[in-house]
Amino acid sequence: MVRIADLAKYDGQEIQLHGWLTSKRSSGKIHFLQIRDGSGFVQATVFKNDVPEEVFETAKHLAQETSLRLAGLVRADERAPGGFEIGVRDLAVVASPAGEYPITPKEHGIDFLLERRHLWLRHKRPWAILRVRDAVQRAINDFFHHEGFVRFDAPFFTPNAAEGTTNLFEIDLFDEDKAYLSQSGQLYAEAGALAFGKVYTFGPTFRAEKSKTRRHLLEFWMIEPEVAYATHEDNMNLQERFVSYIVRRVLEQCQEELRVLERDVSKLQPTAEGNFPRISYTEALEIIRAHLESGDLPENFPEGILPVPWGEDLGAPHETILGYHFDRPVMVHSYPSAIKAFYMQPWEDHPELAKCDDMIAPEGYGEIIGGSERIHDYELLKARIEEHNLPMEAFEWYLDLRRFGSVPHAGFGMGLERVVAWITGIDHLREAIPFPRMLTRMYP
Ligand code: 4AD
Ligand code: MG
Repeated sequence: MVRIADLAKYDGQEIQLHGWLTSKRSSGKIHFLQIRDGSGFVQATVFKNDVPEEVFETAKHLAQETSLRLAGLVRADERAPGGFEIGVRDLAVVASPAGEYPITPKEHGIDFLLERRHLWLRHKRPWAILRVRDAVQRAINDFFHHEGFVRFDAPFFTPNAAEGTTNLFEIDLFDEDKAYLSQSGQLYAEAGALAFGKVYTFGPTFRAEKSKTRRHLLEFWMIEPEVAYATHEDNMNLQERFVSYIVRRVLEQCQEELRVLERDVSKLQPTAEGNFPRISYTEALEIIRAHLESGDLPENFPEGILPVPWGEDLGAPHETILGYHFDRPVMVHSYPSAIKAFYMQPWEDHPELAKCDDMIAPEGYGEIIGGSERIHDYELLKARIEEHNLPMEAFEWYLDLRRFGSVPHAGFGMGLERVVAWITGIDHLREAIPFPRMLTRMYP
């Protein structure tokens, strides 16, 4: 059995293929079958003169999403998308659809498709996007293993909030104890870094995002490296190497997927080169203000957006301006500590600023990475936990990391779906994950 992705190796040969019919067109003596097998898509042509009468009849009555086995000759054909087509010799139906397949070749609305996500996955666009997701995941694992990291799994149930308490999912565990679904594996990755030197977590994280946006899911996958003895600058260097590596890999390995998605790959080229600009929060506010004042703004930019007063966080439209200003991801560093997480190390000479950075993707995809150096001083960390009104009992284990063998360390978290959405050029995170969980969607 041959897979469509490998057809080039079988030019001029008879092969067998197991797959499904995605669509069909007939003209008297020929049926053109569009076949998918998971690895790709190909046209299989049934000529009346090439096959037994009953095979031609079977082909005539095939419905969309019939599962089938076929045998035929691989032929090079310039007009075919993959460069090859199959001249069918024989055909057997494995199963016929039980009724009319709901997703027809005509246009469907996004809600219609998401309601049938379990079937929609079979179509070209999800196929391309989710294969890029797979390529990104493999690139991530390869990158960290080359760099000597240990993959380290953080728990999904946690007693402590890592990223503020406003979007925590609380669950009842056996009535007595409250627990939360993890918003971030970071605190556990810090324990891992002090045990293994360099670790990364890679798993689902959960946030009760109560507003509908195209950049937020309730369940998303995060990659969180953490490195003992690393500085803020080491951290930014790692982020740059990491993201440019991922993009290079996708450009190399996913040409067909990006073509299906009609992605303008020239827009990804600068990222593949590295050299990401690094600007301070204060400089970022200036760039944003200048664009708002001059009116040099990206297409479809919302009306009525104001500059950010110093000390406040950037909103999504502000990030969009930064993504428009630069041709590759930009690292915005040294935000005011007051608007960032409790664990971030302050600058020695400017304690009101944190040794942190957010990486903002180009083309309006917003923040793809948040990271920082961590507070390693026991007293300062304890004071911050108190200031943030976090329950000290839940953080005793975390404070132990500063009681015993504390060292400066740093790390970051990258949102997988944000990166996949950006690389594939899709406009909403819901298509960057097989089964999106959102405020308005839990089914299927
Ligand atoms: O910036 P965040 O909140 O950082 C952390 O969680 C840190 N603990 C990471 C660390 O230093 N180890 O989230 C990190 C990234 C964001 O930059 C964004 O890409 C993604 O996670 N993200 C989301 N992606 C999809 N849906 C959501 N609701 C997201 N919230 C954050
Ligand atoms: Mg963030």
